[in-house]
Amino acid sequence: MKNTSGTTEQKRRAGESAADLVTDGMVVGLGTGSTAAHAIEALGQAVDAGLDVEGIPTSFQSRQLALEHGIPLTSLDAVDRVDVAIDGADQVAGFTLVKGGGAAHAREKIVDAAADRFVVVADPSKLTDDLDYPIPVEVLPAARPTVADAIAALGGDPVLRQAERKDGPVVTDNGNVVLDCDFGVVDEPAALATDLSALPGVVEHGLFVDMADEVHVGRDDGVERRTR
Ligand code: 5RP
Repeated sequence: MKNTSGTTEQKRRAGESAADLVTDGMVVGLGTGSTAAHAIEALGQAVDAGLDVEGIPTSFQSRQLALEHGIPLTSLDAVDRVDVAIDGADQVAGFTLVKGGGAAHAREKIVDAAADRFVVVADPSKLTDDLDYPIPVEVLPAARPTVADAIAALGGDPVLRQAERKDGPVVTDNGNVVLDCDFGVVDEPAALATDLSALPGVVEHGLFVDMADEVHVGRDDGVERRTR
């Protein structure tokens, strides 16, 4: 369930701007989605030109893309630190995000949270004052009915995400399903995040509360860098 009305050029500018932050010897979290893909491509070009980095992918998609672009890969258990993570978002309000439009938010949150510096890449259509995008919640398949009931009791409207080129639901890289949960405007993201995390069977939700360190917004005439 994507929220991508930005142009390719806006996304490319954002991705390249974030990739420019990467220097020799860094370990880089490789986000998922069409905007993060531009950062991965730019990093691949830099690796071609001699940059020495290792990437930690956040999904099947970002792993494949990194392999195609010749970026050496590693994993969280093989490194002492992640210097920077570059990732997209479906909505950005300040430094709080809704993610999971590509159903990769569980691994994304692990890697993005582990990074010393988490850089979000976005086009202007992602920016908002009010977070009102349905919150993706990854759920163990056996827990779908009970989690859906609990989310309804919290005031959400959970809808099982359906696959587009497969019959039945989207199955995540972790073998789970996703409930897209419309809560209207989320006035208190931290409280909702705590409530969602507490539900048995929830693997991870797409609220990234106050997690970003920087947001690079690709615009038609350049890049706006928002820092804390
Ligand atoms: C995947 C994500 C993506 O980062 C998010 O959906 C943004 O993708 P795009 O850059 O294609 O709009 O959270 O789970």
